[in-house]
Amino acid sequence: MGEYLDVELAGGVATITLHHGKVNALCVELLGELEAAASELSASDAAVGAVVITGGPKLFAAGADIGQFAADASPESFAIAPPERVREVGGAFLAALNAVAAIPVPTIASVSGFALGGGCELALACDLRIASAKARFGQPEILLGIIPGGGGTQRLARLVGPSIAKDLVFTGRQVDAAEALRIGLVNEVVEPEALDARVAELAASLAAGPCSALRLAKAAIDDGLETTLEAGLVIEQDRFVEVFATDDATVGVASFLEHGPGKAQFRH
Ligand code: COA
Repeated sequence: MGEYLDVELAGGVATITLHHGKVNALCVELLGELEAAASELSASDAAVGAVVITGGPKLFAAGADIGQFAADASPESFAIAPPERVREVGGAFLAALNAVAAIPVPTIASVSGFALGGGCELALACDLRIASAKARFGQPEILLGIIPGGGGTQRLARLVGPSIAKDLVFTGRQVDAAEALRIGLVNEVVEPEALDARVAELAASLAAGPCSALRLAKAAIDDGLETTLEAGLVIEQDRFVEVFATDDATVGVASFLEHGPGKAQFRH
């Protein structure tokens, strides 16, 4: 258990739970713990088949710790943070969210309430987002006279397209869960009381699935998005050949031919 987050491992699913004050403000110290936890999970190999990130039952995270944006926060002598401090905050976001994105197994953001600013960016660094019907998303940085610094201009634009990303980043407006689903920002919306069970079910089914094939599928999609279509298709071909050398392919194809579709039990 860290000062700002807990990591629990059960049944091949690792759950990272953020806990910092009233709104899980993403201070530099929390981001350091998150980077360490994500890197450790990435190195844990076969023990972890899926990772869930949650902010608990009230909200996901309300973004960067805004107090860390000020060199002097008193109203009489307010001073904005100097460039070296801003680099430190931005660097902590970059390192932590890149470490989350680099986790080689499927990752799920379980979003119960507000996911704003860096909170939205953390959800974007996960592979899938499951939201409570009460969840709200947004990149409100512009309302503070700043811009997103944790992937909000990059991962958001890649996920929902530049037009919707510019709408959200330029206006700072929040979207509710229904709109988030409509624009492709979340994969699924469930009733608030059903969120934990749905996320647990999805994570467990991924962790019990063909883990080598899932890792290769994730790598093919993520690596392919970094490059041209032509190069991405070559990446896919290489991963396609690689997957046939795994037990998953042997088990899955043999099971299909003997028992029909969807019956394979993958070994772990
Ligand atoms: N960083 C640091 N503290 C924050 C914070 C943040 N990102 N967001 C909220 N807080 C603090 C508030 O100052 C308040 O502190 P206090 O109780 O000591 O006065 C406490 O968390 C609760 O916030 P409050 O606004 O009273 O709660 P709410 O339920 O009415 O609203 C939010 C919750 C998250 C919608 C609202 O606080 C908000 O919009 N936060 C800022 C989000 C943001 O701009 N994020 C991007 C940062 S770049």
